[in-house]
Amino acid sequence: MTIIACADMEWGIGRDGGLLFNIPEDMEFFKTATRGKTVVMGRKTFESLRIKPLPGRRNIVLTKSESFSFEGTETAHSLTELFSLLENTPKNDVFVIGGSNVYRQLLKYCDTALITKVSAYGKADSFIADFDKLSDWKTECASEIMDSNGIKFQFVKYVRNYP
Ligand SMILES: NC(=O)c1ccc[n+]([C@@H]2O[C@H](COP(=O)([O-])OP(=O)(O)OC[C@H]3O[C@@H](n4cnc5c(N)ncnc54)[C@H](OP(=O)(O)O)[C@@H]3O)[C@@H](O)[C@H]2O)c1
Repeated sequence: MTIIACADMEWGIGRDGGLLFNIPEDMEFFKTATRGKTVVMGRKTFESLRIKPLPGRRNIVLTKSESFSFEGTETAHSLTELFSLLENTPKNDVFVIGGSNVYRQLLKYCDTALITKVSAYGKADSFIADFDKLSDWKTECASEIMDSNGIKFQFVKYVRNYP
């Protein structure tokens, strides 16, 4: 499974329930990477999408709520339920799209992380792990540093470093 996230220089990913930056190139990268795939997200991230599933993708939302039900989404009430929904799905086709809580729980099941690293401080209140400090992960490749309306960023691919 692949984590996909956009993080600032402190590995912050969100503030007040929303994203830190609006980088159209990152949105495009996200859309291209996840198109036709399965995306797994927490209920809070789903709500931040204005309660609409991402089109052209299989949307799975984690929530403990029994009453949660939205057209175009599947619901998992636990990781056990999630893995049962994913039983027949190739793991390479599953993208964990956040937020913080869900990244933390699913990190150990992932072997790839596509991180858009933004050279700025977003005053975040939600964070993802610092992949540069995780001993079992390494950078596989990184794009050049790009600029979007004055915001500098780069795409970095991390992979789990199996011994
Ligand atoms: N920069 C990025 O790439 C990026 C991507 C996504 C999100 N974000 C940001 O991340 C922030 C939201 O993150 P968050 O950590 O607050 O929330 P979240 O991870 O999106 O959602 C947490 C919720 O998911 C449900 N959940 C989590 N684990 C579960 C489990 N094992 N079983 C059942 N339900 C489970 C629970 O929902 P219930 O409370 O309903 O039970 C929990 O309250 C926002 O600021 C958002 O904008 C950033």
